Amino acid sequence: MERIQKVIANSGYTSRRKAEELLVKGKVKVNGKVVRELGTLVDSNDTIIVEGHVLKKDEKTYILLNKPRGVVTTTSDDKNRKTVIDLIDIPTRIYPVGRLDYDTTGVLILTNDGELTNGLIHPSSNIDKLYIAKIKGLISPEHIKRLVSGVIIDGKKTSKAKAKLKKLDKKKETSIVELTIHEGRNHQVKKMFEALGYEVLKLKRERFAFLDVKSLKPGEYRYLTIKEVKKLYSLINK
Ligand code: URA
Repeated sequence: MERIQKVIANSGYTSRRKAEELLVKGKVKVNGKVVRELGTLVDSNDTIIVEGHVLKKDEKTYILLNKPRGVVTTTSDDKNRKTVIDLIDIPTRIYPVGRLDYDTTGVLILTNDGELTNGLIHPSSNIDKLYIAKIKGLISPEHIKRLVSGVIIDGKKTSKAKAKLKKLDKKKETSIVELTIHEGRNHQVKKMFEALGYEVLKLKRERFAFLDVKSLKPGEYRYLTIKEVKKLYSLINK
């Protein structure tokens, strides 16, 4: 048995907070009866109807997208820009797991599995995210060490990371740095470089946990295998 607002959120229909609002407003029915009480326990035999929609049970979809540049990582955009959802031609409503900036490329998971999403984005899960950043300027070894030990962004030090210098282009005055972080703060990579005085010119998420998009062109996607989904679950249930 699970709390009803969790079941609604995990179905991907809406967030847990919105589910609670809908409950209080009397928009949720369980087996034909309106249920307003937060925390009502339900199980997979119960038929749950939210705002007239029958909640589908256990139909989970997991997509791995190679996000191209120039696409927002939201389900809709008030400026009418293309979204990652526009790139995926499937009938199921899915949502991105975390965010990548408009100009960032690379690994993005999309799913309607709220439990997995919450687990993966929760800071305690410590999922490694490997980014490749092209930055303006020739980065010093001292600054590579600072990326590793932590820099202050938004008033708080970043936790330990891995950083490796991949290339220095003395002519163009650019550097390529591989940075592995396990937090997921807003614009974290760009802010980490900015804190040291470097502008990020290009950013790619090369890997999320064990997943990469080497076999996918920008804009292409594939379904995750059951094995991959299980492996992701094992990382959040550590
Ligand atoms: N850090 C950033 O600054 N941007 C991203 O898109 C992802 C991580």
